[in-house]
Amino acid sequence: MSFSKVFEKNTEWVSAKLAVDKKYFKKLAEKQEPEILFIGCSDSRVKVGAMMGVEPGDVFIHRNIGNMVPNTDLNVMSVINYAVSHLKVKHAVVCGHYYCGGVKAAMQSEDLGILNPWLRNIRDVYRLHHIELDAIKNEDQKYRRLIELNVQEQCVNLIKTPDVQKALLEKRIKVHGWVFDLGTGKLIDLKIDFDKILKDIMQIYHLDTTSEN
Ligand code: CO
Repeated sequence: MSFSKVFEKNTEWVSAKLAVDKKYFKKLAEKQEPEILFIGCSDSRVKVGAMMGVEPGDVFIHRNIGNMVPNTDLNVMSVINYAVSHLKVKHAVVCGHYYCGGVKAAMQSEDLGILNPWLRNIRDVYRLHHIELDAIKNEDQKYRRLIELNVQEQCVNLIKTPDVQKALLEKRIKVHGWVFDLGTGKLIDLKIDFDKILKDIMQIYHLDTTSEN
């Protein structure tokens, strides 16, 4: 891909869209009603539209290094609030990907400056699951499993937010954990059983819905 071709490619894309539907951009400008909130990694190889077969308007997207949902990050928390409580998306997805550089970096001890506090969130996932992870002797398998467990923990972070708590109580949202396999192009649903994972601890995070004020 050549940077100098970007605007030329844009003109071609506009023409192609208008050739099919003259009002395509007029309709696009009117409103958005996405059904999916997608939280993924910033990795350039993860192409959300193409891998899911979706068009502009279908998915509300947030991306950062390692598809993280830290509760102190105003950026991701604002995205969740807007998508869940205002746009009322029906599905919230955390999508990791194999070969994730962020997760790889978190497995190593190199000093990465400003990335250290961000990657520490992934190191915390390792700590939480260290018994399972340390039992895996093959480094590649361990790497892949940490990517999956990170998706699981970020889904749990998502479930802990008040917006998702309310939406779950009102049965208007489903949370999903996926992994995109760059090596095959396949999108994998981890089919995480959140009821099972959160069975004994969820009362800590539940909102008090009995009070009206
Ligand atoms: Co990544």
